[in-house]
Amino acid sequence: MINAGVVTVSYIIATILFILALGGLSNQETARRGNWYGIIGMTIALLATVLGVVTQHYTILLVALLTGGSVGLLLARRVQMTQMPELVAILHSLVGLAAVAVGYANFMDPSVQFTGVELTIHDIETYLGILIGAVTFSGSVIAFGKLSGRIGGKPMLLPARHWLNLGLLIGAIWFGREFVVQSAAGAGMTPLIIMTVIALLFGIHMVMAIGGADMPVVVSMLNSYSGWAASATGFMLSNDLLIVTGALVGSSGAILSYIMCRAMNRKFLNVIAGGFGTGGGTSAAGGDEEGEIVPIDAAETAALLNDAREIMIIPGYGMAVAQAQHIVYELTSTLRAKGVNVRFGIHPVAGRMPGHMNVLLAEAKVPYDIVFEMDEINDDFPDVDVSIVIGANDIVNPSALEVPDSPIAGMPVLECWKGKVTIVLKRSMATGYAGVQNPLFFKENTRMLFGDAKDSLDEVFRSL
Ligand code: TAP
Repeated sequence: MINAGVVTVSYIIATILFILALGGLSNQETARRGNWYGIIGMTIALLATVLGVVTQHYTILLVALLTGGSVGLLLARRVQMTQMPELVAILHSLVGLAAVAVGYANFMDPSVQFTGVELTIHDIETYLGILIGAVTFSGSVIAFGKLSGRIGGKPMLLPARHWLNLGLLIGAIWFGREFVVQSAAGAGMTPLIIMTVIALLFGIHMVMAIGGADMPVVVSMLNSYSGWAASATGFMLSNDLLIVTGALVGSSGAILSYIMCRAMNRKFLNVIAGGFGTGGGTSAAGGDEEGEIVPIDAAETAALLNDAREIMIIPGYGMAVAQAQHIVYELTSTLRAKGVNVRFGIHPVAGRMPGHMNVLLAEAKVPYDIVFEMDEINDDFPDVDVSIVIGANDIVNPSALEVPDSPIAGMPVLECWKGKVTIVLKRSMATGYAGVQNPLFFKENTRMLFGDAKDSLDEVFRSL
C-alpha cells in the first residue's frame, strides 16, 4: 500500500526513535519520555511493515496481531511489580521462539532461491538465527522457572559440565558444516533439527548451572541474546530495521550484563560457566552460632528516628513485596520536614531486576536527588545515625566481605553496620534470594523490626 521509499524513511525514523528511547531510559528523569519514543518508534515500525512490506495473507496477520496484542495487554495489566522479572524472562523466550520459527520457515520457503556464495551466507544466517533463538528460548524458560520459584535457586552442577558444554559447542559447529553442505544439495533438515535440540539442551544446562545470586547477570544476558536472535532474524528476512533494533537490544543487554557483573564483582565467563551463588556453602547454614538478635517495636523505632540527624534508607526486594514505597515516601517527607537528612542507598542488584528500587521510589515520587547509588554513599555510613533496611537481605550481608567461602563472597554490599544503629524490617529470620544467613542481624548495633514492611512502617509513621 505504501512504496519502498516510504518504508525506508519510516524505518530510519523508527531507528532514531529507538536510539532516543535508549538514551531516555538511562536516566530516571527522562525515562518516561524515553518510553514514549520507544512506543512511537514501534508503532511506526509496525505500520510501515504491515502496510509496505507485507503483500498477502492479511487475515492471518491481523489475527496474529490481535491475538498477540491482546495477550500482551492482558499480561501487562495483570502483572504485579514483583512479577516483572519473570514476565521479562518469558517474553525473551518468545523472541527466541520467533527466531526459531522464522528460521525454519525461511529454510523451507520454496520462493527463497539462492545459489553459490549467496546460498552459503543465507544458510549461515538461518543456522545462527535458529541456534541463538533456541538457546534464548530454553534458557529464558528456565530463568522464568527460577525467578518465579517453580525451579529451585540452587545451581545444578553436573560432573564434567564444562566438557559437556564443549561437546555441545563442537556438535553445533559440526552440524553447521553438515547443514551448509547438505543444503547446497537440496537437503539439510536433519542437521538443522539436531542442532536445534543441542541448542535447546545448551540453554537449559547453562541457566540450570547458575546460582540464585547470579540470576541478575543471566536475565540481562538473555536480554542480550534475544536481541541478537532478532538481529539474525533481520538478516534472514533482509529487514534492516530488525537488524538494527536487534543489535541495539543485543549490545545494550551485553553492556548491562557487564555492569551487573561489575556490581557483583564477578567475571562474566565465570558466571556463564556456572556454579556461583550456590546457597549451599558452609556459611549458608546455621544462625545459632551467630549470637542473639535484638527485636525492636514501632514506637522505639519512631523514637530512634526522632533523635536522628542522618538517616539512610536501604530498600530491597521486601519493599516491593510489601508495596511499602508510598509509606516510605510519607515517612521521608515527614522526617525531611523536621530537618533530618534522609538519603536512599541503592544496591545495583537490589530487588529482582535492574533499577527495580529506582522504579518503585520514582512511582512513590521520592525526589531523585536523595537517591544514591551504592558507590556514592558506601563511605558515608560511619556518619549515619540510623540505617533502615526495608526488606533487604543479601545486599547488606557482611559475610560477602568477611567469609571467603560464602556463595556471595566478593559481592560489594551496603556497609550499614558501620553506622550507629541499623533497623532491619522483615517478617522472619528467613534468608534472602541467595539462601545465605546474614550476620548483620546478630550485630550489637542492629535492631530487628519484625512484620510486613508496609504494616511496620505504617505503625512507625503513626508513632512519629
Ligand atoms: P533478598 O536478599 O531477596 O531479601 C529480601 C528480604 O525481604 C527477605 O529476606 C525477606 O525476609 C524480606 N521480605 C520479603 N517480603 C517482605 C515483606 N512483605 N515485608 C518485609 N520484608 C519482606 O533481596 P535483596 O536484599 O534486595 O537482594 C536481591 C537479591 O536478589 C540478590 O541476591 C540478587 O542477586 C538477587 N537477584 C537480583 C536481581 C536484580 S537484577 N536485581 C535479579 C534476580 C535475582 P522475610 O521472608 O523474613 O520477610
